[in-house]
Amino acid sequence: MSNSLPSLTPSSNNVDELPKARFWEAMDICQWEGFWFEPGLVKPAITFRSTFQARDDDLLLASTPKTGTTWLKALSLCIMQQNQEHDILTMENPHFHVPTIESTIYSTKPQKADLYDASAPRLLHTHLPHAVLPDSIKNSACKIVYIARNPKDTLISMWHFFNSIIRPNQEPFPLEKAVDCFCTGVYQYGPFFEHVVEYWQESQKRPEKILFLKYEDLKTDPKAQISKMGEFLGRPFGSEAEVEEVVERCCLERLKNLEVNRNGSVLSNVPNSSFFRKGEVGDWKNYLSPEMEDRINQTSRLKLEPFGLASFFS
Ligand code: A3P
Repeated sequence: MSNSLPSLTPSSNNVDELPKARFWEAMDICQWEGFWFEPGLVKPAITFRSTFQARDDDLLLASTPKTGTTWLKALSLCIMQQNQEHDILTMENPHFHVPTIESTIYSTKPQKADLYDASAPRLLHTHLPHAVLPDSIKNSACKIVYIARNPKDTLISMWHFFNSIIRPNQEPFPLEKAVDCFCTGVYQYGPFFEHVVEYWQESQKRPEKILFLKYEDLKTDPKAQISKMGEFLGRPFGSEAEVEEVVERCCLERLKNLEVNRNGSVLSNVPNSSFFRKGEVGDWKNYLSPEMEDRINQTSRLKLEPFGLASFFS
């Protein structure tokens, strides 16, 4: 099966004409529909929006980067494949099984799930904001699971990822500057806060359509959250032991040590191992100065409080 997107003729969407900026002094990003993207991702995003035909039993996972996407993919695979003898997580990295739609252009091998032709139910993921999702996703019965994470831990996770992938033999990117970009929104897939708010609001309007999860809740009480996912996805668990098995299969230490995740890469120049680091809540305390913390807190309050979200992420 191919993983190619249908061809595109977006004459009115010339990527070269979009506003541009540098992301952390290392790569170009451009602003499309109010959010910042790598230029190479904009055309796939436009194609996705204009051509994708959702099916009622599709499942779309959504997140902004470094909020627990890999974990969410692993959990969803286990939940959707309940009762299967083999453990799909030992065969390939979760990013292979659940492609991130707009990033499949970076895939190092043909992905198993063809976005357009694979048989239903399809399990897909996107980092795109809710506003640019295809109408067919918004209007069909297909479900969305969004994962959100504390902004300070998200930023620190991104900073480590970026330093190891983009600046492997250099000094880390200055954290003060990273905080500044994060708060002003000139950040990959940013602004972070608007991304979270869009999915949050939609999940409030249509709770049967969008499940809004928090990384911290998954860490604190994985069994309750995974049971909730099972119910939401129409795959309720038969026993607590089954839920526990999913918790175990998807725990960070286990995934990190699987052969498929220690070696190889599903996305070019991104080793599979780089998706697994510490997975701790509050790791930001080891890095952010009080001033940086204050800056992010202020921005969080400003952007999230009007939606009743600030206390979730304090
Ligand atoms: P840290 O950098 O804080 O350790 P994403 O998958 O969206 O890229 O997010 C990566 C973050 O999720 C990293 O956080 C990573 O360690 C953490 N993570 C990956 N797999 C996980 C798992 N199975 N359980 C908990 N956290 C996980």
